[in-house]
Amino acid sequence: MIEIDGVSKAFGGLQAVHNVSFTVERGSITGLIGPNGAGKSTLFNIVAGVIPPDEGRIALDGQDITGLPPHQLFHRGLVRTFQIPHEFSRMTVRENLMIVPAGQQGESLLQSWLRWARIVRQDREILRRADEVLDFLEIGHLADELAGNLSGGQKKLLDLGRTMMTDARAVLLDEPGAGVNRTLLGKLAEAIERLNRERGYTFCVIEHDMDLIARLCDPVMVMANGELIASGSMETLRQDERVLEAYLGSGSSGQAGASA
Ligand SMILES: Nc1ncnc2c1ncn2[C@@H]1O[C@H](COP(=O)(O)OP(=O)(O)OP(=O)(O)O)[C@@H](O)[C@H]1O
Ligand SMILES: [Mg+2]
Repeated sequence: MIEIDGVSKAFGGLQAVHNVSFTVERGSITGLIGPNGAGKSTLFNIVAGVIPPDEGRIALDGQDITGLPPHQLFHRGLVRTFQIPHEFSRMTVRENLMIVPAGQQGESLLQSWLRWARIVRQDREILRRADEVLDFLEIGHLADELAGNLSGGQKKLLDLGRTMMTDARAVLLDEPGAGVNRTLLGKLAEAIERLNRERGYTFCVIEHDMDLIARLCDPVMVMANGELIASGSMETLRQDERVLEAYLGSGSSGQAGASA
């Protein structure tokens, strides 16, 4: 579904991503792991159209999308969670869901605000959809809570809910589990699994929590120093020497050994 072909990106002298190729298959939950500074988020930014690659191409369902801006990818069903504007803390959870369809044009927050006022008046359909999303994520009891009062984990669920308000079919999640407590993490994982199974969502997930990756993802891609060094099931990767070496050898800086 998403084909990444020979993608490279340098920041000054630092080769953040070097000649990375892999495919995120339709219907998969593909993992992307690697030590800090491996280039994972940079690769996501390139796929999501936030920054252009120096080299390489990205295709979505066989169509070249290299360099397309995020809002155009949005219309093609490819979203990165934080592309959707961050939650409005003074609006309720339900309102935060309802505003998403208004934000799809890549318009300013003020513009989406104004459009939102219209939507609330006119569009029962969006209200129905928002309530369906709340039900699906089992956060109906939070519908009228101000988004600003949510815990970090609840905000991640809201984030996922916001992707459900779009016509997203491929979703890039950058560390969905970061800072989320165990209970909510289980719920988040379940929501991702159900979206995948029941709604046909394809996911690519960056995560440092290996238990979460092992539970959700197959296959898993491993990056280190900007390069793709291994891929496969989490089970096989746990015994892969290149992977162990990348994690053990990386220490606190992922820079050592970056290709010149
Ligand atoms: N905008 C930028 N300008 C300069 N250097 C950058 C920029 N973005 C990322 N880098 C550098 O590129 C390298 C890869 O960073 P990236 O954020 O992609 O790593 P990551 O794998 O997502 O790491 P983490 O797991 O810590 O999030 C790092 O050395 C980082 O410092
Ligand atoms: Mg990152």
